[in-house]
Amino acid sequence: MKQANVIIIGSGIASLQLANSLRHDLNVIVLTKSKISKSNSNLAQGGIAAAIGEKDNPKKHYIDTLEAGRHHNDPNIVRELTRQAPSLIQELNEKGCSFDKDVNGDLLLGMEGAHSEHRIVHGGGDATGRTIIQFMTSNMNQNIKIIENIFVYELLMDECSNRCIGAKGKYSNGKVDHFFAEHIVIATGGCGQLYSYTSNAETAVGDGIALAYRVGAEITDMEFIQFHPTLLYTEGKAVGLVSEAVRGEGARLITKEGLPIMDGIHPLRDLAPRHIVSQTIFSYIKKGKPIFLDISEVDHFVNRFPTITNLCEQYGIDLKKGIIPVVPGSHFLMGGIKTDLYGRSSVKGLYAIGEAACSGVHGANRLASNSLLEGLFFGKRLAEKINTQSINQSFDPAISESNGCHINDPLPSIKEIQASMMEHAGIIRTKEGLMKQKSWLESFEVENWIERKLDHLTNEELIQVFMMITSWLITDSALVRTESRGGHFRQDYPSENDHKWVRKQIIHCKKTIK
Ligand code: SIN
Repeated sequence: MKQANVIIIGSGIASLQLANSLRHDLNVIVLTKSKISKSNSNLAQGGIAAAIGEKDNPKKHYIDTLEAGRHHNDPNIVRELTRQAPSLIQELNEKGCSFDKDVNGDLLLGMEGAHSEHRIVHGGGDATGRTIIQFMTSNMNQNIKIIENIFVYELLMDECSNRCIGAKGKYSNGKVDHFFAEHIVIATGGCGQLYSYTSNAETAVGDGIALAYRVGAEITDMEFIQFHPTLLYTEGKAVGLVSEAVRGEGARLITKEGLPIMDGIHPLRDLAPRHIVSQTIFSYIKKGKPIFLDISEVDHFVNRFPTITNLCEQYGIDLKKGIIPVVPGSHFLMGGIKTDLYGRSSVKGLYAIGEAACSGVHGANRLASNSLLEGLFFGKRLAEKINTQSINQSFDPAISESNGCHINDPLPSIKEIQASMMEHAGIIRTKEGLMKQKSWLESFEVENWIERKLDHLTNEELIQVFMMITSWLITDSALVRTESRGGHFRQDYPSENDHKWVRKQIIHCKKTIK
């Protein structure tokens, strides 16, 4: 058993920003199911959005964020985020994080979809996530202990106060450890791996959301999944991200015959909001028509996009031909554990930050490059809140074990979950498809797995259970929302229905739905 003041589950940008911003007299433990270098944040290419250009201002960034989010966002949180963005970048820059700069030492600002100004700060060309994560991990404070390769599979609740007081984790050799703290923070990222085409790291399986749901936390907006328009597509598989910044530098989406596909679809054409570009590409691919990114007009591609160049070389794509085959795939979860402006969930002692959380900042569709920003912003805000509280040195936990017995029911395989989610709860949804998916998930007794003890499961089985629970939350929410908005597209309800649905959240909380 280990005790700390703050336990952070997950190790992406939100987690590290929180850990590094906490008071140095607090004992902090970061638990991560893999290696720090394996997070989604580490893979982020495009950059971080901040209104620091001469013609730009936070109001414009605010308007772009609401427009991309289809006005499902919480405007107060968006206002705070866009206001703080320039100082969060400045702080990292002054501490020595090596963002890309011009010859005068000014930050280079890229362009991405649905932004009205150049405002994407980047590092290492297209390796912004890696640049920041490496900077943060090499500057960790002494009070932070990082434990890698431990899979947190249960949150521990105090019976009397109904407060979250700890977490149980399993090492790859099966050994279990208990961790206790006054503040338990979920920063496990999203759930891109629920779909067969994804840009996400293998670790993004929705575990944090399932963990929180199991202890009664409110989960919201799960129907809003962002599909990134351009993943590299080869031999029937999506094998990595081709950043939107490539289109920001002039690349265009074309058919095999060379015809541009975004003309006449949206005034911003190839830089239209992601859901529109993804739905357009998907409609071609569904008809068996492959789509390509024409990069022939992009200057200095190899220097500006070294990560994408390496990826293409690895899969035998000859960039001299000037085209990259692409497919849309799941990229970001706008929903998650419902939180307030400080990352507090509806369960005492339990917090969520980063992609696992739903603070309302992204609405129905996240604006490109607002996710690393979200991690920086909420990591810092939560730290500021915790830093004002006095330290509780000792406490005596009375743990409530979850109910249920050990049943050897079959579980769906990871590949089965991914394929069925892609088909029935993916880019284009219908009532029939969603109902089929919901009954399929329920045939594995998903509702029982919400209550059962999980100690006897292997790490792979735990992942299957968490993927099943998170898939069920997405499917049920997508069924309830009878309109299309942002990352949620219903073919049977193809338009936004402001009258019925604007800013209305679908909230799941252990068997109740609001
Ligand atoms: C990209 O580089 O296209 C991804 C950036 C993001 O999702 O914000």
